[in-house]
Amino acid sequence: MESSHRTAACIRALAVICLMVAAIGSGTEPLRAQSRTTSLPVLPAPVAVTMQAGECVIFRGTPVFADPLFQHAAQSLAELISSAAPTPFEHRVVPSIRFVLAPPGITGEAYHLRISAEGIVIRAGTDAGAYYAVQTLRQLLPSCIEGGSRFRAWRIPCMTISDCPRFSWRGVSLDCSRHFLPVPEIKQIIDRMAALKMNRLHWHLTDDQGWRLEIRAYPELTRVGAWRGEGSTRYGGYYSQQDVRDLVAYAMARHVVIVPELDMPGHATAALASYPWLGCRAETEAVAETWGIFETVLCPGRETTYEFIETVLREVVDLFPSPWIHVGGDECRRERWWSCDSCHASQRRNRLLDVNYMQSYFTGRVESMLARLGRTPIGWNEIAEGASKSTIVQAWYHVEVGIEMSQQGFQVICSPIEPYYLNYHHDYNTLEKVYSFDPIIGHPWPDGGKSVLGIECCLWTESLPTPVEVNRMLFPRIAAVAEAAWSEAQRKDWDSFRLRLGVLGGRWRQQGQDFLPLDEVLWDNGEPLTMKSVDRPMLDDGVPFQDATRFVLSGLSEGRPAVANPNASAFPVSSMPPVVARFDSTEVAIDYAYTHPELIDGYTVRGMHKKMNPWAELIDSLSLDGLCHLSRAEKGRTSPRMELFPNPLSPTGQTAEFRVRLTIDELGPVEVSVYDLRGERVRSILVQALPFGTWTIPVTIENFAAGSYMVVTRAAAHTGATMLHVLPSQ
Ligand code: ACM
Ligand code: ZN
Repeated sequence: MESSHRTAACIRALAVICLMVAAIGSGTEPLRAQSRTTSLPVLPAPVAVTMQAGECVIFRGTPVFADPLFQHAAQSLAELISSAAPTPFEHRVVPSIRFVLAPPGITGEAYHLRISAEGIVIRAGTDAGAYYAVQTLRQLLPSCIEGGSRFRAWRIPCMTISDCPRFSWRGVSLDCSRHFLPVPEIKQIIDRMAALKMNRLHWHLTDDQGWRLEIRAYPELTRVGAWRGEGSTRYGGYYSQQDVRDLVAYAMARHVVIVPELDMPGHATAALASYPWLGCRAETEAVAETWGIFETVLCPGRETTYEFIETVLREVVDLFPSPWIHVGGDECRRERWWSCDSCHASQRRNRLLDVNYMQSYFTGRVESMLARLGRTPIGWNEIAEGASKSTIVQAWYHVEVGIEMSQQGFQVICSPIEPYYLNYHHDYNTLEKVYSFDPIIGHPWPDGGKSVLGIECCLWTESLPTPVEVNRMLFPRIAAVAEAAWSEAQRKDWDSFRLRLGVLGGRWRQQGQDFLPLDEVLWDNGEPLTMKSVDRPMLDDGVPFQDATRFVLSGLSEGRPAVANPNASAFPVSSMPPVVARFDSTEVAIDYAYTHPELIDGYTVRGMHKKMNPWAELIDSLSLDGLCHLSRAEKGRTSPRMELFPNPLSPTGQTAEFRVRLTIDELGPVEVSVYDLRGERVRSILVQALPFGTWTIPVTIENFAAGSYMVVTRAAAHTGATMLHVLPSQ
């Protein structure tokens, strides 16, 4: 009696939470069916919920009956509630949980869930649909179930839920090249993704800083290419083929497809370090130890390069059942092609206008290989330059680039930097910005968005060296991406989301999932939210209900610092020494150095990150006519590099004229800013978009004095920062 009384109290408390969420989610409006949908602590919000009178009582060991089609889904639920293995034989047992084949209207990832006094019936057309029904049901059970608590019974209010996804592609991209993430950590992310009904893990396995996939035909890729640095700074690791098979099976059981990415022809330094003949110069290269966009790219002019790629791809398709293989295509610098006899010979042989077109040629060759292997290529948006329409384009600059691709006839995955690059700081791509962004509504898709397969958030790990940093960037924002990917746009409700996220946070804690504590999340109104536990009854085994949390809006204390970045002190200003110049020197050359200004120790460059369009005020204040011609065919080569020339005639303390020489090969706009060491922006100019090549841009700075400055370039995707020490004239 005592235990059932406590259990009932727990369930009543859960119902109170539901009502509380309903009340807050619906504001002053009368409770409509739609607002009740998001009143359940289910995230992502289901399409339709109908609450009914009464409750369903589930006991530990409640029998699970399932059509064999639903074996995975039913097994996962049986494990959760400690039932025997699901059986297809249905006895007249009440209550029971039954997985049954849905009528024809419910297909794919859709499901129907009915909770009644007789038990629970899950209807779906596939194991995936049934699996998602289990994820919903799981969120209707207390979170202590996640910690393996020995409960006895729960009550769930009677209801029916009909649900299906908005997008078929609901992805997370994980860069395991810049920093290696161990397999157990990846499995944990897959668990969380699956619970949020996300279904694509895009695994970035190769880049300049490390080749992470064992390829049996080319052992040097992991013997050499998986490691960087020497001695105590040596860093690396790779995934064996056994690791990959294990991980792929683990993901598949959770309806997550692992889509491998081998980035080519750019971002290939680690491959060239392993096999120098893959590059144009056949020189020995070291695996990159700094971040950036390097000249060390594959040579597209030699047949040996294609033999290598085909052999690698054969092993890749054997390891990964994914229908899609991501082949990168982004940020490929072409300087070396211009001085390569093989590239020129191939260009002439293939009647291409110049060697720049070798990337299109390369893309065509790789597409043909994948077609022979029965797989569909995916590439970052730069790949559209030479790709056929069978290649899926992942639009990363911004939504407009996806729209352009759609106009050209491509299918598109939307991963705009703003807001879906989750390695960008929490106070830049804020939780609310991630949540409220819609990739379709309000954007001029020519087909209304039909060409959009879905969305994917990206986690680049240059500044995320350990699982702690990875998890604190991905969580909790992944929940906002999941709801954007699964739930219909009109179901989204920020206030309801925040409450449901609080409940989910309690579940994550039970699961041992690290995440940025919700009271450290800066919300867009400038206030952090504090999450407080609410006193809850104990369960039978004495474990308190820790999902019983609620948000309490607390005022922002004046001057509260933004979320501290754990890497701030570990992250150098740049890999290069500061530039030192005399005020009267004739020339200062500043190489572009790739870093993140917000990570620079003791130096915050926050102002320009605050606006949705940081360029707007600059565009207004500058007249840069004549610099703004970039034809579409010319865009997207390499990163900006910058040289700064102080004018020797400019005396200290007066107006200084600089000539900034910017070599830019990337889609604009590019902002060049000079900051003093108080973080004040002394001057900024905006270059809307530059033709391919080197430009000298005049920058005038008033009251310029000898001292230390930070010169920052910010392009669509990258930020460069270099310290400039200007000494007095001699
Ligand atoms: C990318 O961020 N280079 C895809
Ligand atoms: Zn070449």
